[in-house]
Amino acid sequence: MNIVLLGAPGAGKGTQAQKLVEEFGLVHISTGDLLRAAVKAQSKLGIEAKSYMDAGKLVPDQLVINLVKERLQADDAQAGFILDGFPRNTAQAVTLDSELASMERNLDAALLVDVKPDVIVKRLSSRRTCRSCGYTAPAGVDVCPRCGGEMYQRDDDKPETIQKRLDVYQTQTAPLVEYYRGHSILKEVDGDRPVDEVYADVKALLTA
Ligand code: AP5
Repeated sequence: MNIVLLGAPGAGKGTQAQKLVEEFGLVHISTGDLLRAAVKAQSKLGIEAKSYMDAGKLVPDQLVINLVKERLQADDAQAGFILDGFPRNTAQAVTLDSELASMERNLDAALLVDVKPDVIVKRLSSRRTCRSCGYTAPAGVDVCPRCGGEMYQRDDDKPETIQKRLDVYQTQTAPLVEYYRGHSILKEVDGDRPVDEVYADVKALLTA
C-alpha cells in the first residue's frame, strides 16, 4: 500500500501515520521529520532549510524532492510507504508521479484529513514533540511515552508562524485535493473527532 497523506498543518497526519505504521508495518516518510533531523545534524541541507521552516514557508522544491527520491529507493520503502507532508504543491506532486512511474510503482490513495483552521490553531499551540523520535502529544506530556525522550515545542508551533503555515497550505497545498480527485484516488476523512474514531474511518477507507 502506497499512500499520500494530505491535510493542513496540525490536521493529524502524523498521528494517523503512527497508527498505520503500527498496524500495517508501512514505512512513514515525513518530510518535516527528515528536515528537522537535517537541522539537528546541522548538515548543509539543514542549515539551508532552517530559515524557511522557522518562517513557516515551504523549503525549496529541489531540496525536498532529492530527499524524498533517496528515501523512496531505500530497501525498507519497497513494501509500502506513507508519505506525510509531501507533496506540498503541484510541482512536487508531478515529480512524485514521474518518480514512481520510473520505479514501476504507483499511489493507491491520497487521504485528506480534513480539519477546520480554528481547531488547528488550538492543536498546534498546545502540541509537544519528542526531540528523539518525533512522537507528538498535547502539552502536559513532558516525557515521550514511546521512547522516554524530552518533549519540546517546535519553533514553528508559535501562533504567528502557525498562521503563516495555514496561509501557505491554502495557497500552495490545498489545490492538491483537486489534483488527486482528478486521478480518482482521493479519499477524505473528518479529522475533527477523537483520534481512534478518525483512525477507524482511515482504516476502512484504505482497506475497502
Ligand atoms: P511538517 O512537519 O510536515 O508540518 P505540517 O504539515 O505543518 O504538519 P504537522 O506535523 O504540523 O501536523 P500533522 O498534521 O502531522 O499533525 P499531528 O499529527 O502532529 O512541516 C514542517 C515544515 O517543514 C514546513 O512548514 C516546511 O517549512 C517544511 N516542509 C516539510 N515538508 C515539505 C515539503 N514537502 N516541501 C517544502 N517544505 C516542506 O497533530 C497535531 C496535534 O494535534 C498533536 O498534538 C496531536 O496529538 C493532536 N491531534 C492529532 N489528531 C487529533 C485528534 N483527532 N483530536 C485531537 N487532537 C489531535
